[in-house]
Amino acid sequence: MVARIIPVDSFDLIVFGGTGDLARRKILPALFKRFCGGQMPGESRLIGVARRELDDLGYRDFVRSALSEFAGEAAFDTVAVNAFCDMLHYVSVDARGDRGWQALGEMMIPDKVRAFYYSVGPSVFSDLSERLHKYGLVDEQTRIVVEKPFGHDLDTARALNRELARHFDETQIYRIDHYLGKETVQNLMAVRFGNMLFEPLWNAQYIDHIQITVAETVGVSGRGEYYEKAGAMRDMVQNHLMQLLCLIAMEPPSFFEPNAVRDEKLKVIRALDSVQPHHLVRGQYTAADGFNSYREDVDNPRSKTESFVALKCHLNNWRWAGTPFYLRTGKRLNEQDSEITVVFKDTPHSIFGPEAGRHRNELTIQLQPDEGITLGVTIKEPGQGGMRLMDVPLDMSFAETLGPDAHTPDAYERLIMDVIRGNQTLFMRNDEVEAAWAWTDPIIRGWEARGDVPKPYDSFSAGPDDAALLMRRDGREWRGITH
Ligand code: BG6
Repeated sequence: MVARIIPVDSFDLIVFGGTGDLARRKILPALFKRFCGGQMPGESRLIGVARRELDDLGYRDFVRSALSEFAGEAAFDTVAVNAFCDMLHYVSVDARGDRGWQALGEMMIPDKVRAFYYSVGPSVFSDLSERLHKYGLVDEQTRIVVEKPFGHDLDTARALNRELARHFDETQIYRIDHYLGKETVQNLMAVRFGNMLFEPLWNAQYIDHIQITVAETVGVSGRGEYYEKAGAMRDMVQNHLMQLLCLIAMEPPSFFEPNAVRDEKLKVIRALDSVQPHHLVRGQYTAADGFNSYREDVDNPRSKTESFVALKCHLNNWRWAGTPFYLRTGKRLNEQDSEITVVFKDTPHSIFGPEAGRHRNELTIQLQPDEGITLGVTIKEPGQGGMRLMDVPLDMSFAETLGPDAHTPDAYERLIMDVIRGNQTLFMRNDEVEAAWAWTDPIIRGWEARGDVPKPYDSFSAGPDDAALLMRRDGREWRGITH
């Protein structure tokens, strides 16, 4: 099955931080793949902007090497790479001064879609926004894209939102959470709201609990300075896991339309109850053969920052009253595994008696690796006397079901093209981000006030044992990576 391509008019994407890590790893390869997919019409341009002195040719060389490193097999197509590079330009500017801005302004073409990607730290957002206005670079067709971290807490997020609102209308601001661009995450909405099958059961009456795991094998080396100030709670839970929780728990929006979807997500975040300290587990990885400990990675022997967090939370609303949500995420765990499992309740009465065993339906949404959705169904164990039951998966692995030609776009491919199309559905609104911080802040302040020290856990394990206990105390077990 070949993906349907929605055509766009030609556009300009201007990347501040055009020589940075995010541009190299994600933005440039994503745009190149969309170019190969026929979604970058002839007059489009990608303009890299950074402080470094470079000309167009120098930038094209830089991009070529980024593509060969991060664009996979597509980068072997030298004809495509050359044609893509012809669309690239470079302007050197001083983000905090005046150098280069006029030249950038002179390149702008009225009425063409113009997206400014702020692939830089939030401390420069304000300088960039001011200069975009001062040099007349903002028009009706202008939009800006900003990346996480969007604030460090509620106050800083509010200040950032206020600052951006001084310069841009909310409809021009695209706050990226790349988890929303992942194909399976969007599929979650398709499965929930495109089928009659699940929605009638999608509530506390039929669902025992929901668990979300985002486990990574990588540590934090190379990002220690940022991570030490963030920790797993700010780096992953406040944004990525929160977004997954929203999509799982929200009411059906009236349309798949930006504000309808975001209104429903906001209601979920606002319905989140505060988390009890005994429902929280924090961990920090220790050294393994040839691998540093967390504290070595961040060069802080006394660090109290968590590289792992697990928690249990509840939503205060009719649909979910009484259904716990368990969230866990961590670095340097035994497998890369991101999945959401919806565990349904037992049947009200087992007609097959105790020897049939306990069987529950489970819906697993596997985000990575091997994206797919599996529904566990109980059937009769074949060939056995009596009636013994077993669980079998109704499996929809995307790679197998959709065939080898189905291109699953990288999250950034989808999100950048949505910016160009002017579709904000998969981007976070100002109030959503603030509500997520309003829930996260007291948790972090709580453990700071208690002087909490994260539990050490072995590198390449499933995290601290307390995370398993959090579940076992409730008679439940984690799915996915196990202890
Ligand atoms: C980023 C976090 O937002 O997401 C990283 O800052 C994390 O710490 C990454 O590794 C995970 O993204 P993905 O797409 O690899 O699951």
